Amino acid sequence: MKVISVVGARPQFVKLAPVAQALSAAGVDHVIVHTGQHYDADMSDVFFDGLSIPAPDVHLGVGSGSHGAQTGAMLAALEPVFLEHNPDWVLVYGDTNSTLAAALAAVKIHLPVAHLEAGLRSFNKRMPEEHNRVMTDHCADLLLAPTEVAQGHLANEGLAAITRVVGDVMVDVCFTVRDAVLAAGGGTSETPYLLSTIHRAENTDDPDRLRAIIDALASAPLPVRLLAHPRLRAKAEQFGIELAQGSIELHSPVPYAEMVASVLGSAGVVTDSGGLQKEAYLLDRPCTTLRTETEWVETLHDGWNVLVADPADLAEALKRDRPTAARKAPYGDGRAAEAVAAALQGV
Ligand code: UD1
Repeated sequence: MKVISVVGARPQFVKLAPVAQALSAAGVDHVIVHTGQHYDADMSDVFFDGLSIPAPDVHLGVGSGSHGAQTGAMLAALEPVFLEHNPDWVLVYGDTNSTLAAALAAVKIHLPVAHLEAGLRSFNKRMPEEHNRVMTDHCADLLLAPTEVAQGHLANEGLAAITRVVGDVMVDVCFTVRDAVLAAGGGTSETPYLLSTIHRAENTDDPDRLRAIIDALASAPLPVRLLAHPRLRAKAEQFGIELAQGSIELHSPVPYAEMVASVLGSAGVVTDSGGLQKEAYLLDRPCTTLRTETEWVETLHDGWNVLVADPADLAEALKRDRPTAARKAPYGDGRAAEAVAAALQGV
């Protein structure tokens, strides 16, 4: 059996790591295509190296652009690759422009599409990721849902028959890396700090909102280790906003193991990333999410994750006590990638 995985952005490399391992263990012929959506070394190469992912077989080098230009360039570039390899499955990950482009390119030439992380919904049509995931789910042939909530969304949209709950592959990689970090004596800090990332268009592209977020982080009661995505740096510079101010300590994006160690060493996380909300939850750190909603609703249980729509409310949210209630394991047991391989093989 031949599977083509299409990835392009940072969170997709993380998800690819356990899947590539499971497909290799299952003896599947696995072709990796990198669209080039993320191209900086610290947004791409460090994930392949750090997570021992085989180098991409094909690199399309599409790069940045407006949504239409970027998605269209990927769509055009993927078609000949798919025709050449003629796989049994095109496997797409998450909700980026790379995901949608690959799903569209595949259905147009009648190749079966499997969508990993299917069924997530924010119900916020302002988010590019929401269009990407809804359209991808509706052109896929197999929907690999991470949670029962996601399965419910797909059932509501008439897609129950092609849905399979496999768990969340990010648990697989997060727990493996956590164990390695702890075994090496990492993941601790002598001084308390908050770990933060901000990169979503809804937060970065409006100067007033971005300024309010940076002001709120700068006034936090603890040092804020801000790992700045290139979009954040570019927008802050464009709007004349100084990122390194007050409590904020500005850093570059970090490799995955360093991210896990940084969450473990932190007193809590402030973010708008979906993956980091979940990593905080899995690693027992409270998270405050600068958004109006989250796709990962299970993290909201008992205040482990709190949504803060207005940055002016951040200070209050950070004062809350650390939750004490036990949590269930809504994202699975860390063996989702094996279930993905089995589902693709029709087992
Ligand atoms: C994309 C995904 C988002 C995901 C995020 C993870 C879409 C619509 N969004 O957002 O869901 O959470 O990846 O990081 O696909 N840039 C660089 N170097 C890079 C990559 C980007 O400088 O290696 C800059 C460019 O200015 C670019 C901007 O960041 O225009 C945005 O990058 P893009 O890939 O378009 O979207 P992300 O914001 O990264």
